[in-house]
Amino acid sequence: MKISNKMTQELNIEQPIIMAPMFLVSNEAMMKAAIESGMMGVFPSLNFRNEGELENVLNNLKEYKETHPEFSGNYGVNLIVQRSNPLYEKHLKICIDHKVPFYITSLGNPKPVIDLAHSYGAKVYCDVTNIDHATKCAKLGCDGFIAVGQGAGGHAGPSPLHLLVPSLKYHFPEIPIVAAGGIANGKGILSALSLGAMGVSIGTRFINSTESSVSNAYKQGIIDAKMEDIVLTEKLSGTPCNIINTPYAKKLGYKQNWFEKLLSTNKTTKKYFKMLVQINGMKKLEDAIRPNNYKTLWCAGQSVELINDILPTKEITERLLRELDEAYELLQQELLAVNLSK
Ligand SMILES: Cc1cc2nc3c(=O)[nH]c(=O)nc-3n(C[C@H](O)[C@H](O)[C@H](O)COP(=O)(O)O)c2cc1C
Repeated sequence: MKISNKMTQELNIEQPIIMAPMFLVSNEAMMKAAIESGMMGVFPSLNFRNEGELENVLNNLKEYKETHPEFSGNYGVNLIVQRSNPLYEKHLKICIDHKVPFYITSLGNPKPVIDLAHSYGAKVYCDVTNIDHATKCAKLGCDGFIAVGQGAGGHAGPSPLHLLVPSLKYHFPEIPIVAAGGIANGKGILSALSLGAMGVSIGTRFINSTESSVSNAYKQGIIDAKMEDIVLTEKLSGTPCNIINTPYAKKLGYKQNWFEKLLSTNKTTKKYFKMLVQINGMKKLEDAIRPNNYKTLWCAGQSVELINDILPTKEITERLLRELDEAYELLQQELLAVNLSK
């Protein structure tokens, strides 16, 4: 099935799939594999925090695209647009200077990204989990929404995709919607398209790609975990985040205590406390992905239920697309059978 719509055309990609940005997971090899597979590969700028790293990866991806016109994918950057992200302004400037073609914004006010990206024709999709935030992003002129639903890896939304996507579609019929959360096979993609999404954003499935450089223990953790092993914790960034419920995650607990809550809501302490929580959380996650670390904190979504292997990105994508075709065929046959039996 060839899918061509406003999202695939505006983002200049062949397949309606975004390889979702994943803190500490997304890397250059994954982005190149996404481009080769016809997808949009997006990485968080925060994965390249050392001096010169972000510039370097952006130069490499630009060159890769230019030297491989036969590959039908593209690349983009995810920016955490919150005042508590100390690198936000610096990273935004680097991305704009390098004319990044696509952005996904998360958590805060995306206005500066939208204005600057539009000055050279780049597109900006905003992570949204409810209609209020989507309304703000739409007023600022975003080009699309990443509808982040329940069960997504990382900062999951509170609502299921089968409510969030149609509701966004109803309120903003002209704005492309990409469904994120719990999608790891062709049936999941078909269901998202049937809800009104123009594409899907898939994270957890690609942690178990051969290009991903997380530890084997983390990848095995994804294979072993079931959907009920995924828990939401406020301990890493202050915002509920889905992780595998390892013994260390249990030991840390999942909720902020009353004092932490006070500091993160108080007008004067809010910004600095959130920054501190995030820096601590990042450090814990970074330590946890090192091999042989028993303090295992592994970010993943409920789609772990459907993931049983580690494969090259290209094979994962080809399988997703084959499954999508099969799911579509099967649905047509089943609907026909229902009609005939009436
Ligand atoms: C390990 C991991 C790290 C993530 N880090 C980020 C991030 O830095 N920024 C962001 O916007 N979303 C982040 N996400 C969320 C993904 O971009 C995407 O919304 C999510 O993975 C989709 O759900 P799925 O994992 O069920 O496919 C992360 C997800 C995972 C699994």
